[in-house]
Amino acid sequence: MCGIFGLVLRKGRVAPMILDGLSRLEYRGYDSIGVAVINNGVLQIRKDAGKIKDVASRLRIAEMKGSIGFGHTRWATHGAPNMINAHPHTDSKGKIAVIHNGVIENFMELKQELIDKGHNFISKTDTEVIPNLIDEEMKSDIGITEATLKALRRLKGSYAVVVLSSLEPDKIVCARQESPLVLGVSENGTYCASDAPAIRPYTNKVIYLRNGELATIDVNGYKIIKVADGSAVERTPEEITWVLEMAEKQEYPNYMLKEIFEQPTSLRTGLRLQEKYVDLLTMFLDRGKEVFLVSAGTSQHSCIAASYIFSKIARLTTYPVVSSEFTEQYGSTVGIDSIILAVSQSGETYDTLKAVDHARMRAATVLGLTNTVGSTLTRVSRAYIIQQSGPEIGVAATKTFTSQVLVLAQLAMRLAKLRGKLSQDELDEYKESLYKVPDIVESVLKETYDKVKDIATREKNSRLFLFLGRGISSATAMEGRLKLLEITYIPSLAYPAGESKHGPISIVEKDTACVFICPRGDTHAEIIGSIMEMKARGAKIISICEKGDTDIKSLSDEVIEMPKNIPELLSPIPYIVPMQLLAYEIAVLKGLDPDKPRNLAKSVTVP
Ligand code: M6R
Repeated sequence: MCGIFGLVLRKGRVAPMILDGLSRLEYRGYDSIGVAVINNGVLQIRKDAGKIKDVASRLRIAEMKGSIGFGHTRWATHGAPNMINAHPHTDSKGKIAVIHNGVIENFMELKQELIDKGHNFISKTDTEVIPNLIDEEMKSDIGITEATLKALRRLKGSYAVVVLSSLEPDKIVCARQESPLVLGVSENGTYCASDAPAIRPYTNKVIYLRNGELATIDVNGYKIIKVADGSAVERTPEEITWVLEMAEKQEYPNYMLKEIFEQPTSLRTGLRLQEKYVDLLTMFLDRGKEVFLVSAGTSQHSCIAASYIFSKIARLTTYPVVSSEFTEQYGSTVGIDSIILAVSQSGETYDTLKAVDHARMRAATVLGLTNTVGSTLTRVSRAYIIQQSGPEIGVAATKTFTSQVLVLAQLAMRLAKLRGKLSQDELDEYKESLYKVPDIVESVLKETYDKVKDIATREKNSRLFLFLGRGISSATAMEGRLKLLEITYIPSLAYPAGESKHGPISIVEKDTACVFICPRGDTHAEIIGSIMEMKARGAKIISICEKGDTDIKSLSDEVIEMPKNIPELLSPIPYIVPMQLLAYEIAVLKGLDPDKPRNLAKSVTVP
């Protein structure tokens, strides 16, 4: 979603740094950009639709003078992506500039009220009401901070808002409600941004704002108060431990490929979870009357995979639920005995946080699994685990999927132990297999990439892909489908293979590409039946199966061979890897940017 970067410097011009900060937030997705700076007390704004590089050079943004300012990348929610709707927006007098991430639900009524009071509006955005509301409040002779507080109290919806005004040219006021905002402090200045990677080149000391908080930043630092009552909040900075290189591309042409190849490392880190948190989450999972696994997109696929692992290893029934449906589907029954395990890479996904809010209101216990320290999910969870995958910049989730499954599998194993559902030998065997997973993924990356490239070249023009798996592999199939669909735009379906004869098979014709996920295990015999059904209709069979699996090979047109002896319940981790590579290769062959698929944002922080 939209990206925000603002700063106040003791020395130096902010404009080049704003452009740098915005480029580090590009992964969030955007269609227009804008920058505002104050120089000699004068507020200047340059903005337009387009890519950061193009707009910046066309409008000569880097040359803007001034040591205080901010920038914004807009992902359109209200109003077309064009210059007028690009942020910053100002009040009618052009003295107060605002950038915003989120959605103001009551903007229509506020706009009408402000028009009646003589304010002019030029954009179609919800954001434009904010500077005008602040201007209206300032008529009662209060400063920009107080006026912003009062204006924010009138807003309904979600926001990270940053305010800059020539009336008080030495400070920036910013606040958050449901959309993320982080502050940074350094010797030379103070920063605010949607996400820590934008600030990381300048400082490793950050402060995560919480919902309902407003901060004033100037060259001396920051002050935080609560929007509701103006009371002061004391919060000291936290240190970011990851280095910037972890979020940069290194030798890879783009982030997605880098992140796919980082998986052996991220999985190794994911095996070093802090025991006390694993124990705490396990204890809650054991106590619940019912356990919901709530998440969106890729995180939902991890949850579906985990539901098989929890059931088979720990004998725990869990309900994976898409977060945007949670309140409708289970909102009236969830209660004090329910456990909600919310899984979200970013920890900021609007739908997931909304579901969590609802569950908390009904006294359910919320647990979190996220990749983002300090995210909203960590703050609203009774207990949480950080999956430790390192920053993921590519919009398509890759390393965070495999880490999520790994962490959830560890929780299932710990629960199985607590419940006495597996013998010590069985537990040791699972543990041994789990610890081999990073090495297995490393060899899959080495051994399958060339084959995947060949298949990508042959299949890049396929008009339709089907992804099919049985048992836990149906989750792997769904994730494979999502990867291909979101970055190559090729229409794709994924189904539990047994379900395909209840409808999807009707679209199969000669040469329809069917990817089958076929690990050895309980579902092996059944998947052979499903392959034969598709083959009989002329489908092109692309199988991912164990080396030496002659039954599958004899039925397939293309085979990607995987290492032997991977337990079926852990198979989603290595078996997704060739599908991540396939999606990546096809996107590149089609000339598409795999890091920034159209219409998508890394973190979906709006309803
Ligand atoms: O940050 P989250 O895990 O909550 O994000 C959920 C989805 O938005 C995310 O997985 C999305 O589907 C990705 N683009 C998938 O690659």
